[in-house]
Amino acid sequence: AAAPANQTAGFLDCLAASLPAGVVYTHASRSYQSVLESSIKNLLFDTPATPTPVAVVEATDASHVQAAVRCGVGHGVSVRSRSGGHDYEGLSYRSLDAARAFAVVDMAGGALRAVRVDVRGRAAWVGSGATLGEVYYAIANKTSRLGFPGSVGPTVGVGGFLSGGGFGLMLRKHGLASDHVLDATMVDAKGRLLDRAAMGEDLFWAIRGGGGGNFGIVLSWKLRLVPVPATVTVFTVHRSRNQSATDLLAKWQRVAPSLPSDAFLRVVVQNQNAQFESLYLGTRAGLVAAMADAFPELNVTASDCIEMTWVQSVLYFAFYGTGKPPEMLLDRGTGRPDRYFKAKSDYVQEPMPSQVWETTWSWLLKDGAGLLILDPYGGEMARVAPAATPFPHRQALYNIQYYGFWSESGEAAAAKHMGWIRGVYGEMEPYVSKNPRGAYVNYRDLDLGVNDDGGGVARARYEKATVWGRAYFKANFERLAAVKAKVDPDNYFKNEQSIPPLPS
Ligand code: FDA
Repeated sequence: AAAPANQTAGFLDCLAASLPAGVVYTHASRSYQSVLESSIKNLLFDTPATPTPVAVVEATDASHVQAAVRCGVGHGVSVRSRSGGHDYEGLSYRSLDAARAFAVVDMAGGALRAVRVDVRGRAAWVGSGATLGEVYYAIANKTSRLGFPGSVGPTVGVGGFLSGGGFGLMLRKHGLASDHVLDATMVDAKGRLLDRAAMGEDLFWAIRGGGGGNFGIVLSWKLRLVPVPATVTVFTVHRSRNQSATDLLAKWQRVAPSLPSDAFLRVVVQNQNAQFESLYLGTRAGLVAAMADAFPELNVTASDCIEMTWVQSVLYFAFYGTGKPPEMLLDRGTGRPDRYFKAKSDYVQEPMPSQVWETTWSWLLKDGAGLLILDPYGGEMARVAPAATPFPHRQALYNIQYYGFWSESGEAAAAKHMGWIRGVYGEMEPYVSKNPRGAYVNYRDLDLGVNDDGGGVARARYEKATVWGRAYFKANFERLAAVKAKVDPDNYFKNEQSIPPLPS
């Protein structure tokens, strides 16, 4: 059902009446297009055919978010929140339903991206519109002995990242980013501004990993910062298929999830090459010894290892090099994206047989091939109970991200790369988690299914959503739906994969 034009007009009038000029961008505004495109990261969703919002509200104050939600509820126009715009399916700024008007509340415009670091209290208040790079920069500006276990990519937005759990190179030592949320402020479907005490522990549980866009709009997060040593060590070593990369991958699956939790060793598999990347929270000698002990076949030497500060390691993995200035962390990359991409994810519970890696090499030779990123879990991840937060995949050995990317426009190129990623994902099915086949909500994948109204029947809508809901959240899905029924029974905050209210 389309939002009638008068509803949209009423909504826009409401915004104009309740928000200062300069905060609301409509199709009539000269900078509408540049504001909309300011954080689009995937060219797939920046085409003339992509349904666009009737307005973008560049919120710089909690009252702007409250007003946008109240106008939206009052006039039947849904609002999507956008923090960093990295959603893999673009759900923070596009809708698949071309007939229904929607608006975007963007958090990146000003005060809602502030970062305040309290070194003595080992905490920070961070606006949802900040990027993880801005968080790392602000911490490093005050101290070299605290850090935050955030994303590898520094341009990722805090709002979406924490909403889906969020992991990076310190996950084996410190778990998910959302495990370190101490408090939060948010606007709910009634337009109320709530903190942790006011929202209650059920909703506070749900917003720390239950997926972005489901329960309201989170404005800011109080984060616990984690201690980092004065010196950390990194390495990147490449081993090609004909340098026994197959055997190394087979062994890596057993070794990486059970290394000491100070050691993180991921693999990027591309072309006919495995790139082993490590961050070690300690000195070179410690990393060389840990590798010699657990994984001598990888043959890591002292000359492979580089000592640096923690924030330099963030720059090293973000930009693949040493000596980069920390200010690079502040670059949000607001230009037009440079690529089309599609990603999918899996969890592995048992080491895969060696022949699977042989098959993978042949997939990586195909026209249209992308890459695989293997992130090991274990350590702190495995110590947290799967129901403690919405993120359920705590016991996995590792996560696989399949990533296809291309720069040629046109349907033929898209079909080729989509075909590759769906093909390799299909091939892996026997070897990955089952019943349900797990997926990481922050690597959003609409192939897993999309919401519909279930003909208006709440039970049908809920049943449909369980298919992808259980992939992302396993047994936590039902509790998320119960929280949704309590805090947003009319399902105001919704998108193609949002959590429907649990039918009574
Ligand atoms: P975006 O603004 O698109 O929001 C994502 C979703 O959350 C949308 O549904 C949106 O409506 C909702 N949302 C946004 N702001 C909200 C708010 N304030 N309150 C409530 N809901 C909100 N992941 C990871 O775990 N580790 C990593 O290292 C990386 N690295 C990485 C690099 C790159 C280049 C990309 C494109 C993505 C990643 N990711 C990642 C995935 C990333 O965690 C995921 O895309 C996040 O949802 C992005 O959050 P943004 O705020 O940027 O996205």
